[in-house]
Amino acid sequence: MAEKETPEKTGDPVAGAHDLTSSLYFGHLKDTLTAQYLTFAPFAERVGGFSWLLVFTEPDRHPDETKLMLKRQEEMRRLLFSAVDFEAIEHVLDIGCGHGTALIQLGENFHHLKCDGYTVSPRQYELCTKRILESGLEERVRVFLRDSAQDPFPQSCDFIFGIEVAHHIENKAGLFSNLADHLKNSGVIVLADVLSNTGFDLLQPEKGSFSIAKEHYSRLLGDTKLEVTSCTDISQEIANFLYDPDFEKNLLELNRRNPDTCSLNEMHRGFNNVGIALNRGFISYLLLTIRKAQEPVDTALLTELNLKHLNSPISYREALDLFESAKATTDSFRNST
Ligand SMILES: C[S@@+](CC[C@H](N)C(=O)[O-])C[C@H]1O[C@@H](n2cnc3c(N)ncnc32)[C@H](O)[C@@H]1O
Repeated sequence: MAEKETPEKTGDPVAGAHDLTSSLYFGHLKDTLTAQYLTFAPFAERVGGFSWLLVFTEPDRHPDETKLMLKRQEEMRRLLFSAVDFEAIEHVLDIGCGHGTALIQLGENFHHLKCDGYTVSPRQYELCTKRILESGLEERVRVFLRDSAQDPFPQSCDFIFGIEVAHHIENKAGLFSNLADHLKNSGVIVLADVLSNTGFDLLQPEKGSFSIAKEHYSRLLGDTKLEVTSCTDISQEIANFLYDPDFEKNLLELNRRNPDTCSLNEMHRGFNNVGIALNRGFISYLLLTIRKAQEPVDTALLTELNLKHLNSPISYREALDLFESAKATTDSFRNST
């Protein structure tokens, strides 16, 4: 279900950048309607000759690499979503839903779930609306052209997620208080987010990128009585994905083949720089599980605990192993009953 008529254009530069990406990537969506994520993928190792730029923009020319990327993007989502028993919950919210892929998959896999998604991109809103209608899920899956940092969410949720969304949002205090206000007491939030390790906020409004310091992040969460309950560092894996020694050459060739892509050059250079900054340890790419802190809340102590979690993450490999062994235990329990 869609909320209102799609505006022609957005005046907001961040939303405009998301619009542009979706317009460029829209062409090949016709063939890949089942899965389309607008995020990086965790690679255990660098893959020789792999160019995320060419895979994002020309997937048809790189079918094997596209499959590999999708496989890793799905692996990361399975891990993130393992924090939740979807059979036991009702309301799900995606705070920045991109092309609506995760919402549609959840709606298809769990027939009782009600899933809402926010996006600031009119182009994405239009595309999500179309995909939801095509999937026949409009009674339970909705998309809204709204700002997650400002516009109250439609209802209280059991599960809220945001994959590569929060670091695009400057108003983190607004975002976290909206999250806290609409999370049920037993609810869970999972975020894939990029934080600064430098002790200060790395703010790049022209790029729509706002990676704040771990100290600042912990305090903002503490102020809204939100507690980090697990933290996984996948910086190295994302840096492996973004590693491309031929980036500028690939960009030039892409621009020559498809001049429309020139409008995204600065954004794509920004992605390349994310890989470099991750490698150098200036920023971290983290998977976070967040819950409501138990009352009564000592904000200073909560802030301290949050920072401790952010500073002592487990590795992606460890998190995958834990997930696999928990799954094996559940499966063997199910088979024995
Ligand atoms: C990098 S894309 C990720 C999309 C999606 N999470 C996925 O996994 O494919 C970032 C998304 O965040 C959304 N976004 C950015 N700022 C937002 C805000 N303030 N409120 C709602 N959505 C926002 C964009 O519209 C876009 O859909």
